[in-house]
Amino acid sequence: MAFIRALGIASLLASGVRAAVSSTGFTVSLTDIDYFLPPKPVASIAGCDEIQSLFDGGLFVPFTVVKGDGITASYSEDDVWQESFLDALYVQGSSKPANISGTILSGTASSELMPGPYFINAAGQVYEAWRLYSDVAGAFLESVMSNGDDSYSVLPAGTVGQKLAIAVPSRLYFEKSAEKPLAGVRIGVKDIYDLKGLRTSCGNRAYYWLYPPASNTATPVQNLIDAGAVIIGKMLTSQFANGETATADWVDYHEAFNPRGDGYQDTSSSSAGAGAGTASYPWLDVSLGSDTGGSIRGPSQVQGLYGNRPSHGLVGLEHTMPLSPVLDTAGLLARNPTLWKEAAQAMYGANITITDTYPKSIKTLAWPTSPSNVANQLLIDFLANVTDFLGANTTAYNVTASFGSDNPELPSLTTLMNLTYALLITKQQIGLVRDPFYADYAVKHDGRLPFVNPVPLARWGWGANQTNTVEEAIANKTAFMSWANTTFLAPSPQTCSESLVLYVGSVGGTVYRNTYWTAPGVPFGFGNSRISVMAEVPDFVVPIGEAPYNSTITGHVEYLPVTVDFLAAKGCDGMLFSLIGALYEAGIVKESLTGQSGITGGEILLRRGMAEF
Ligand SMILES: *[C@@H]1O[C@H](CO)[C@@H](O)[C@H](O)[C@H]1NC(C)=O
Ligand SMILES: *[C@@H]1O[C@H](CO)[C@@H](O)[C@H](O)[C@H]1NC(C)=O
Ligand SMILES: *[C@@H]1O[C@H](CO)[C@@H](O)[C@H](O)[C@H]1NC(C)=O
Ligand SMILES: *[C@@H]1O[C@H](CO)[C@@H](O)[C@H](O)[C@H]1NC(C)=O
Ligand SMILES: *[C@@H]1O[C@H](CO)[C@@H](O)[C@H](O)[C@H]1NC(C)=O
Ligand SMILES: *[C@@H]1O[C@H](CO)[C@@H](O)[C@H](O)[C@H]1NC(C)=O
Ligand SMILES: *[C@@H]1O[C@H](CO)[C@@H](O)[C@H](O)[C@H]1NC(C)=O
Ligand SMILES: *[C@@H]1O[C@H](CO)[C@@H](O)[C@H](O)[C@H]1NC(C)=O
Ligand SMILES: *[C@@H]1O[C@H](CO)[C@@H](O)[C@H](O)[C@H]1NC(C)=O
Ligand SMILES: *[C@@H]1O[C@H](CO)[C@@H](O)[C@H](O)[C@H]1NC(C)=O
Repeated sequence: MAFIRALGIASLLASGVRAAVSSTGFTVSLTDIDYFLPPKPVASIAGCDEIQSLFDGGLFVPFTVVKGDGITASYSEDDVWQESFLDALYVQGSSKPANISGTILSGTASSELMPGPYFINAAGQVYEAWRLYSDVAGAFLESVMSNGDDSYSVLPAGTVGQKLAIAVPSRLYFEKSAEKPLAGVRIGVKDIYDLKGLRTSCGNRAYYWLYPPASNTATPVQNLIDAGAVIIGKMLTSQFANGETATADWVDYHEAFNPRGDGYQDTSSSSAGAGAGTASYPWLDVSLGSDTGGSIRGPSQVQGLYGNRPSHGLVGLEHTMPLSPVLDTAGLLARNPTLWKEAAQAMYGANITITDTYPKSIKTLAWPTSPSNVANQLLIDFLANVTDFLGANTTAYNVTASFGSDNPELPSLTTLMNLTYALLITKQQIGLVRDPFYADYAVKHDGRLPFVNPVPLARWGWGANQTNTVEEAIANKTAFMSWANTTFLAPSPQTCSESLVLYVGSVGGTVYRNTYWTAPGVPFGFGNSRISVMAEVPDFVVPIGEAPYNSTITGHVEYLPVTVDFLAAKGCDGMLFSLIGALYEAGIVKESLTGQSGITGGEILLRRGMAEF
């Protein structure tokens, strides 16, 4: 072996091949904060003699670019800029602000610089400053850096915190505009969406290594990028977007950490990283998840976030791993409802219309009537507030009972729908993902099978044995959808949807991640969370508060989120975004905070008192 290897090197040398060295960027530390400098300088400033002494043997000098209005409050609000960037300044534009001091760079930049923090080298090359944060919650699978074209690479950097380092650019570099409504908005992407230049794992290690880096970017991600969003990483997904529960189900990768309460509750899945990251990090604005049977709504409910399952078909899913194309949707998780809406408008484009005439009929599904505990009190008050706000009438509605009385010729809804979801996700994913994956893996690995986590394996195993067809499942789905469309989820020319339908999302219940569960089964049955799945309607999660529980981890009272789900007729996504925005403006719903509590914020319990990472 050694001989062959030596020969190889000798022949390389003989043929005159030389290794090409290219920069992958730089990492520096400034006042104990780690920064990443992307490989390509953004400008150069000639003749910076006045700062040569500042190098003091180092490679870079930090400096701040200011415009006419000087150092404004936005600098101190920016999480990348810090006062150590004030040693030197460059004034962009003609008028020098009155209130700045420090060494002024007198040269002229080769191209216009946005305000904010930068680093300059002795040759006068100017680099952006990206702050490095640790993904302490384990929400990311791959860190990401833009190559400056339309492709991405893995970020070659690290920082304290035992996890990946994620780099974020200064917010001062960006100005939102009509063309770039998401300029500078930092977005994480569930790792079932392709990002050109990077491998996609779909939560499976064998899959990650089997396939080459993606040569395209998935449509929902591209729409966000085109609107100016900054993609900062690929986020954890349960395997092949099937529902997994911590911890035993998560064999290939460890589940992310839900920051709420005692910090040891399940994140729900499959957009587990999207939920945990959005609830944990002020430096992450929005996450792109996917929802086939609850994969955005579950993580939003247990982490107290805004999260939308859109109407089916609202955005193309090219270059995205399918679970069941007739059910798959792309949606967003966010803390701020305004940003959530703006990101949705960018992602869904012309397929979403914001309308602000709201239904005056609210139908509730299994709503509590007695304020017997904190969660029920919150739900009752919230419903009263929304009812008042809309001047609406609220009635209780029973989907299974109404379906039964309207459709005496059909079996009960629970019989009709019992197998539908399980059949669609297993049969469709077997054909679209499992079979080609197994075949490609076998070719490369001498007929071997790849490792697959227990949940997808159990589901695929069941699906492969079923004789019921996908067509039959779609027929059952259509029967329910058509009925819903003429009853509780009927469209309205005036208010988009005749009614708003509200159901309880989460009530602060516990799912401890250190539990030994039984072996995974197949997701049979029907419930409120399946209504939007089968009727193709939007289902939006809204956080409304939190409820106390006695933690078996801490031996202390902790709090977990209480959330509500809003349903409306198919295509009324814009009406729901608008309504939730109006409830936000009215103070009925609030921005969710990061950390131990979505209501009061606070450090994640285990890091309490630590500096922010
Ligand atoms: C500098 O002056 C501008 C107005 O010219 C003002 O907006 C800004 O707050 C001032 N900054 C500081 C740090 O005083
Ligand atoms: C709108 O929806 C259609 C149908 O799903 C899709 O083909 C199209 O790409 C969508 N438009 C955008 C902007 O995503
Ligand atoms: C609400 O119900 C009352 C009594 O049934 C009715 O008079 C009123 O018109 C309804 N309001 C709306 C907005 O539907
Ligand atoms: C809805 O009706 C069904 C009977 O069809 C009943 O079993 C169920 O308890 C009802 N649900 C609620 C919340 O009342
Ligand atoms: C749903 O299907 C499963 C598997 O066939 C069965 O065990 C269960 O009893 C069914 N439930 C209903 C309500 O039909
Ligand atoms: C479809 O509905 C029928 C009842 O009409 C039921 O027996 C069958 O199991 C359902 N199949 C699926 C795949 O949903
Ligand atoms: C599928 O059917 C085979 C043959 O009846 C059986 O041995 C196997 O246990 C079944 N697998 C699952 C997951 O139900
Ligand atoms: C619902 O019914 C309306 C007619 O009232 C029709 O235009 C629309 O396409 C239907 N939508 C669905 C999802 O079936
Ligand atoms: C916590 O436990 C104490 C003592 O058993 C009990 O009084 C209290 O109601 C519990 N609190 C919650 C929120 O369950
Ligand atoms: C919501 O309702 C509760 C109880 O009726 C009330 O105390 C609270 O002020 C309301 N909140 C808003 C924002 O309207």
